[in-house]
This record gives sequence, structure tokens and C-alpha cells, in this order.
Amino acid sequence: MSVEDPRALRDAFGAFATGVTVVTTNDPAGRPIGFTANSFTSVSLDPPLLLVCIAKTSRNYATMTGAERFAVNILSETQKDVSNTFARPVEDRFAAVDWRKGPNGCPIFSQVAAWFECSMQDLIEAGDHVIMVGRVTAFENSGLNGLGYARGGYFTPRLAGKAVSAAVEGEIRLGAVLERQGSVFLLGEETLSLPSCTGEGGDPATTLATHLEQLTGLSITIGFLYSVYEDKTDGRQHIVYHALASDGAPREGRFLTPDDLAGAKFSNSATGDIVNRFVLESSIGNFGMYFGDETGGTVHPIAKKDAHS
Ligand SMILES: Cc1cc2nc3c(=O)[nH]c(=O)nc-3n(C[C@H](O)[C@H](O)[C@H](O)COP(=O)(O)O)c2cc1C
Repeated sequence: MSVEDPRALRDAFGAFATGVTVVTTNDPAGRPIGFTANSFTSVSLDPPLLLVCIAKTSRNYATMTGAERFAVNILSETQKDVSNTFARPVEDRFAAVDWRKGPNGCPIFSQVAAWFECSMQDLIEAGDHVIMVGRVTAFENSGLNGLGYARGGYFTPRLAGKAVSAAVEGEIRLGAVLERQGSVFLLGEETLSLPSCTGEGGDPATTLATHLEQLTGLSITIGFLYSVYEDKTDGRQHIVYHALASDGAPREGRFLTPDDLAGAKFSNSATGDIVNRFVLESSIGNFGMYFGDETGGTVHPIAKKDAHS
């Protein structure tokens, strides 16, 4: 693969699983600002240092890099929505979260896995980003599990545990958000549904991969858990994985882009919620925000419907 291809490089960087943070500070008028970042790294215990990278295209770039202090909120696994809100051009991001001021005045969120308040120790030029090095002046560790992020999707350790116990108890339905280059595989014409099969004991990911390969004739890679829920109408536990499909025309069903899905009808509301979440998150991923914006860094409003996770 070529390092000249930023999309391919970004996807390869995305193989490194990280947590998710929201970096916050106050602007000169005292208003809170913040953005989602997974480039956080702990650096040193003595002195206590951490770092986070901010894109030069960020609307908050000047304020963030000019701030004397900032805070890093490590999101917990129930805070996917907070991550999405602080990664999108939402009018008032702070309306979406419970927050207070830390000992030095930076915005600290409730229900986070941990938070760190820092003074700005150093700013290091690094290509299309700047590395902000913070010296920790206060912190708290709640013990909650952190939200995970890899290959453009979130993962949650607790959800994985729930799925395993559901699989042991039986009566589960396995489903897939089967993706190929930003499009999602759906079955049906008037009303759309995600491919699914019954979990019959054994490893759910293997059962699902076999089903999807038979259905589509494509080769399938099962990724992270996407959603686990109990459907009140059928009383069954549903486990939905993110999966990737190889090139080629599927035997049945079709791959639809987020644009094709505008106004689509789904077989039930849970499917609608899952597909809408996929559309929202792929619009964030495709935005090219994090690894710099090859189109010049302008932030276009996302005219997509909000989704529930
Ligand atoms: C999971 C995730 C991680 C991100 N990590 C970073 C990051 O480390 N640095 C960065 O500058 N932007 C990162 N972004 C993108 C910013 O959150 C996004 O561009 C945001 O809109 C910036 O806000 P602003 O332009 O209002 O500053 C990330 C987005 C997501 C969804």
C-alpha cells in the first residue's frame, strides 16, 4: 500500500485499538469548548505528563493550543453518544453531557472512566497536527470501564461479556452490520433488514460468518460487537457484529450507501436504530477529521439524522 494514499493509511492506523477521550478547555470568554480525541497517550509519571494530538484543521485549534490549561476526559463505555457529539459540528456540545468545573476550571464530565486536568507543558509541531503535552495537576479515576475504538467503530468490554453469557443461555439471534467501503448490506426491497441467523451454540462469530458467506457468496471477516439488545417483541437476545465483505456482487441482497438509505423503511425499529447509527458513525469517519482533511480542512455541516445507539 502507498503512503501517498491517506485513506488507506488512516484505515491502517485505525487497526490500533484505543480508548476515546474528550479534551476540554475554556475559551477567552470563559465558554467551555471540547473535541473528541483518541490520540491520547500517557507519557511520564515523574513529572506527570500526558499528550494528545489536535488537527490543525480543528475549529478549536487556536483556542486549544493557546490555552494555559486543559482537561482530558476518558469516556466510559456508556458514552458513545458523547463521543459522537464532540466529533460533530453540533451547536452546543456541552448540552449533551453532565459536566462541572475541575479544580482549575476546566470542564470535567460526569460518568467518565477517569479525568485529568493539566497545565500546558509543551506544544510540538507534528505535520498536520500539533502535539499538546499536558502536566497533570489533578485527576480522578472512577473505575468505570473505558469506551474502546478501533477500525472506525466503538467497542465495549461489558457488552462483550453480556454477549458471551447470552450465547451460553441460548435463544439468541445473530445479526451483522456487513460493510464494504462505507456501504451496508441489506436484504429486502420495500422494507429492509439486516442479515441474521439463529445462534445454535458454538462460537457466535463463526456461526455468523458461515451464514453470511453462504448468503452472499463473498468472503467475510467478523469484527467487533456492534450492538447487544433484547427484543421485547420476540423475547430473544440479539447480538449484532460489525463485519467486512470482500469485493464482488452478492448472491442476494445489496450494499447501500448512506445516501441510498435516506427515507428507507426497516423491518423493525431496532434495525432502523442500528442502521441509522451506522450511517451517523460512517459520516463521522468519512469526514476525514482526525487524520487531517485531504480536501482542505473545511468543516461541512452533516445533514444526517441523529441516531440512537
Ligand atoms: C473516535 C474519534 C477520535 C478522534 N480523535 C481525534 C484526535 O485525536 N485529534 C483530533 O484533532 N481530532 C480527532 N477526532 C476528530 C474531532 O473530534 C473532530 O474533528 C471534531 O469535530 C473537532 O472539533 P472542532 O473542529 O470543533 O475542534 C476524532 C474523532 C473521533 C470520532
